[in-house]
Amino acid sequence: MTRSFAPGKVILFGEHAVVYGRPALAAPVTQVHADVEVRDSDHTGIWIDAPDVNLRAELNTLPSDDPLASVIHNFLFLARVSPFPKLKIKINSTIPVASGLGSGAAVTVALTRALSSHLHFAMSDEEINAFAYEIEKIHHGTPSGIDNTVVTYAKPVYFIKGQPIEILKVGHPFTMVIGDTGVSAPTKESVGAVRKLWEADRVKWERVFDEVGGIVRQARRAMKSGEWELLGGLMNVNHELLQKMTVSSPELDELVGVARKTGALGAKLSGGGRGGNMIALVPLEMAEAVAGSLKEAGAKNTIITQVS
Ligand code: PMV
Repeated sequence: MTRSFAPGKVILFGEHAVVYGRPALAAPVTQVHADVEVRDSDHTGIWIDAPDVNLRAELNTLPSDDPLASVIHNFLFLARVSPFPKLKIKINSTIPVASGLGSGAAVTVALTRALSSHLHFAMSDEEINAFAYEIEKIHHGTPSGIDNTVVTYAKPVYFIKGQPIEILKVGHPFTMVIGDTGVSAPTKESVGAVRKLWEADRVKWERVFDEVGGIVRQARRAMKSGEWELLGGLMNVNHELLQKMTVSSPELDELVGVARKTGALGAKLSGGGRGGNMIALVPLEMAEAVAGSLKEAGAKNTIITQVS
């Protein structure tokens, strides 16, 4: 039996603008993860058991665009595995789906690693990352590649689409509270909405994306130097720009406002938006209180995590 894990992730700064070549910052969230087990089986075929998405089926009965089937088919093609082995694959994930915590990328990475190790087809992190990016493209249209990168390397990253990965050096660890609106929101839709805005007025939106890029660069410096007040303020400005892009929502704005009022140094939505999660930068001693206020304000779930 082979088992593999991959963490969730949060985008700290720069979502959406990152699709248009601006930098973004993201970090792994190890409190949630995807967990994949692959074992040999006596039954014919490749059986997938993914209780979180109510799936129990043989690979060949799944449509080819099924996200799990596409990972397995693409892997078997890449590794030239023929005939198909008899396998039982169990997939569990504690990462909520369509909530901006990278559940799709984490399942892809954990599943690819488990298959690569079980079927003795060695893959480097770079190869896993490139493979996961191809899978993200099938399901998300025009992804930047940030999700698969953070999840594969499980380290904070400063990311620019198409450029070599820069692992982020965080000068001093800091604490974040993540709050889930409970509203599921497919990233593909919010990315598509921003694309429509951009297509209608490229000059205006390129300027907005430039502003986001400037914030991301300042945030990287503030993380290195441990200037938390500055970092929190930059989060607030980034949230405003995301509101402008129409990817916030009343639920996200409510949780962001509550976090700021109850001791966060700054807060913003994280990921695709229109639902999903928000993040707040907090002094460690305030983390429980902010998480409690978010729950009272309707957050379905909260996670306290350290970026280090
Ligand atoms: O919703 P998430 O966490 O998968 O975030 C996607 C981030 C975007 O910038 C909106 C899209 C992308 O591909 O980078």
